Amino acid sequence: DGLTIVGHPLVQHKLSLLRDRRSSTQLFRAVVREIATLLCYEVTRDLRTELIEIETPITTTLSPAIAGKKLVFAPILRAGLAMADGMLDLVPSARVAHIGLYREPVSLQAVEYYFKTPEDVAERLVIVVDPMLATGHTAIAAIDRLKEAGASDMRFVCLLAARPGAEALRAAHPDVPIWAAAMDDRLNDHGYIVPGLGDAGDRTFG
Ligand code: PRP
Repeated sequence: DGLTIVGHPLVQHKLSLLRDRRSSTQLFRAVVREIATLLCYEVTRDLRTELIEIETPITTTLSPAIAGKKLVFAPILRAGLAMADGMLDLVPSARVAHIGLYREPVSLQAVEYYFKTPEDVAERLVIVVDPMLATGHTAIAAIDRLKEAGASDMRFVCLLAARPGAEALRAAHPDVPIWAAAMDDRLNDHGYIVPGLGDAGDRTFG
């Protein structure tokens, strides 16, 4: 139904390290990057390939290569940056869009402070990345803005989704499938995911 939980044991193990309050900033940032690489492998699983001619040291052969334009990774600042790094480890030729949004602590509404995409974003597959999908306000606003900029082929990847946020995002943007390492059931009164992993931006950058 447009939501994929990546149950791979390595992903699940690394997510437990992120949930552990004792994990340092250094460890947290490194593990976010590692999980993002693994999630990137999953979210790109169905990319189209085409046969290209390759000269091996022995002969000439037809061999698969990713078809079409390069991907765009679109990290939502701040916490999405470490995830984008992990994805770029796997797809170094990808372009990057930067989306600055913070969640206003009382209203929980997303406030934009920066937005910059590659010019031809409309012609590319855009993978929006943010570790946390809590109320969904941030992800919905990011995808609204990307659509305004012309993007039409999008996927959303997070580490941890809360059920209400995932439902809100599916309702607002049913054309954008979601990948997550796990889904938690609820949010507390301050809009934090429970049990969650705390504030991903603060734990990554301080
Ligand atoms: C956090 C998180 C998401 C957003 C999720 O960002 O990284 O971007 O909140 O919440 P939502 O689904 O309820 O909108 P935050 O505002 O703390 O900014 P930061 O990453 O710069 O710390």
